[in-house]
Amino acid sequence: MFKKNKNFLIIFSIVLVLFFTTSCNKEEKGMKETLNEKYDYLVLVNKYSKLPDDWESNVELVSAKDAWGENIKIEKKTYENYKKLKKALEKDGVTIELDSVYRSIKEQQKLWDDWTVEKGIDYVKKYVAVPGFSEHHTGLAVDICLRKDGKLIYENDDMIADRETFAKIHAKLADYGFILRYLENRDDITGYAYEPWHLRYIGDSKIAKKIMDKDITFEEYLESVENVKETPSSAKYHVEKALQKHFVKVYGDKIIDVKFNVTKVYSSKEEKETEVLKSMNLGKKDIAFEVTYQLLPAENVNIIELMIPNGEFDQKSGWIIDVSRVGVLKYSNGNYSIKDFGTGF
Ligand code: DAL
Ligand code: ZN
Repeated sequence: MFKKNKNFLIIFSIVLVLFFTTSCNKEEKGMKETLNEKYDYLVLVNKYSKLPDDWESNVELVSAKDAWGENIKIEKKTYENYKKLKKALEKDGVTIELDSVYRSIKEQQKLWDDWTVEKGIDYVKKYVAVPGFSEHHTGLAVDICLRKDGKLIYENDDMIADRETFAKIHAKLADYGFILRYLENRDDITGYAYEPWHLRYIGDSKIAKKIMDKDITFEEYLESVENVKETPSSAKYHVEKALQKHFVKVYGDKIIDVKFNVTKVYSSKEEKETEVLKSMNLGKKDIAFEVTYQLLPAENVNIIELMIPNGEFDQKSGWIIDVSRVGVLKYSNGNYSIKDFGTGF
């Protein structure tokens, strides 16, 4: 009897250990789906938010073919999920092909120049990002085109007109971790006109579903994230937005334009490891950050004054570049404001 009990206990313990190790593994695997160690699938790149400096050296690009059989590059998981999406759509009688996916800064410049000649600068500003500020640099953006009765449909106006086909495509995006990035009549938020063909892989189908079901932009999603310090893309979004407001207030007419590159946002853990930040006792939603920025000064403005305490004036472009600062964003009543904007923590 005792021996039987002992055996039972041993077997029970093994089962228990096995149960816990496999369920922990599952959780770890699940997390890795969205939290890539090298790069953040929720990265925000838009008119004001530049491609992170270390992105190109980390991103894992693979080879693919576009609709015309040319070699192109695309981020690994984005491609895997694109293929699943394509297969699922084929069951609905819809054939999608790749048009443009990863684009280097040089390729984006060529696109900008060619389209400026072809369509004019006003059109280009609505549909093409300034080199360095395109989601296509991430490898996570996918421009698709359609194949119908063997014929390719890739012109912007033709695709915009084909509402029925794109409705079927958009309905399936979230299942494979994609969102529609440039929604109709939301240019005031996204900065661009409606692009039914521009899909963005965000690495998490649950988040993608939330965004697509609510019919919100990626920017609006990042703004609504609760756990802001542990979601770097969301924290960065808030920093950039608050900085823009701050700069308009501080510099007013002295600057024509400003662009930010938030190089770091501190997680709660890092905040506690940094003496100065620790002593500040930051609140749950306050954000410590590091940023470099560029300013386009207005005419007859004292450039030296704008460059202080560091930075460089680029004669060719007329921009003040590489000004670096650190700062803290304070959260109060749903709003963020800049505090302690200086050169080091
Ligand atoms: N068409 C999008 C905005 C880009 O050029 O990145
Ligand atoms: Zn695109």
